[in-house]
Amino acid sequence: MKDEMQFDGGVYETLPASSYWDDALFRSERAKIFRRSWQLFGHVNDLPNPGDYRVEDISGSSVIVMRGQDGEIRAFHNVCAHRGHELLQGEGCTKKLTCPYHAWTYDTTGKLRAAPNSGNFPGFDKDKYPLKQVRLEIFMGLILVNLDSEARPFAEIAAAAIPEIQEYAPNLGNYHHAARTERQANANWKVVAENFNECYHCAVVHKTLTTGVVDPDAYRTRGHSYGIRHVSPARPDERKSYSYVADPTAKTDKFLTWWFFPLFALQIYPGGIVNTYRWKPVSVNQTKIEVDWWLPEATPNVVEAEIIHQHRTTTFAEDGPIVDSVQRGLESGGFDTGPLLVDAGCTSQSEHPIMAFLSQYRDAMA
Ligand code: FES
Ligand SMILES: [Fe+2]
Repeated sequence: MKDEMQFDGGVYETLPASSYWDDALFRSERAKIFRRSWQLFGHVNDLPNPGDYRVEDISGSSVIVMRGQDGEIRAFHNVCAHRGHELLQGEGCTKKLTCPYHAWTYDTTGKLRAAPNSGNFPGFDKDKYPLKQVRLEIFMGLILVNLDSEARPFAEIAAAAIPEIQEYAPNLGNYHHAARTERQANANWKVVAENFNECYHCAVVHKTLTTGVVDPDAYRTRGHSYGIRHVSPARPDERKSYSYVADPTAKTDKFLTWWFFPLFALQIYPGGIVNTYRWKPVSVNQTKIEVDWWLPEATPNVVEAEIIHQHRTTTFAEDGPIVDSVQRGLESGGFDTGPLLVDAGCTSQSEHPIMAFLSQYRDAMA
């Protein structure tokens, strides 16, 4: 596949331990990376009706995503244009947004409609004070937001991945949220990203994944300009740990993951069963991990429920103590840097995905 990152075989070096616990570096990463990246918010089917909204923290900024009375989905900073009070909390459905402080009122497209006493100021122009929009893109039904108004469009960044995603989950745009699995890792986001992307540990830590879902010998990970793509042939029928359903029109030959640098990934299990990962770096050594499952129906059938349960109790759970333990090690004073073993052939045992991550990380911080 074109656009693949290449690394010569050899022994390379990890980041220094301090990169994983330095608070000043974490603040710099937030400004230079997280607040400039496309982050997953949800799916259009989370907000089916005009006026539906949800508020979430996106890397330190409260963001409202709302379906307007006109049907369009927009993202706004959750900040009143008057003097900065927050407008909404949680989720709900509304025809207008009224600020709790001085009752300035906006419509669901973000236009200021009423400001008490402003009628006594003839030159006061309400059009000058709309809600400030946040960049939003809808990708196959998934809602992505970016705090950087200058960011390259996600569709452009992900262009090399999109045709395959469309091929393997052709109906994702119509899917519904079916389940969430989450945990807070007591680990820096980079420890979690490195763990997610390398499969050197798979055969050691993930017995169910490597015996029933993917083929560890054929598992491949490659860096791309957008992030890292993982692919494995699906297990032959007699070995697989679950049956394929979800979308009967979807392909069943591969297990695919696209990790979009730095905080969002999309996985497609054979049969069009989709999950998304989003990572929320809470502090230098805490990272909230949320896995959402997307299926044709909001209620998983028996087989889908089984794969969600299997992931929650095996692969996902197994990485929990691993990353927390690594973080303790990195903070212990007993570790400076370590060796990364990169095979010339970039096999599943090789740590080249960490090299890809570090290259993307250094570019983003430059
Ligand atoms: S801060 Fe919102 S109305 Fe004053
Ligand atoms: Fe893992």
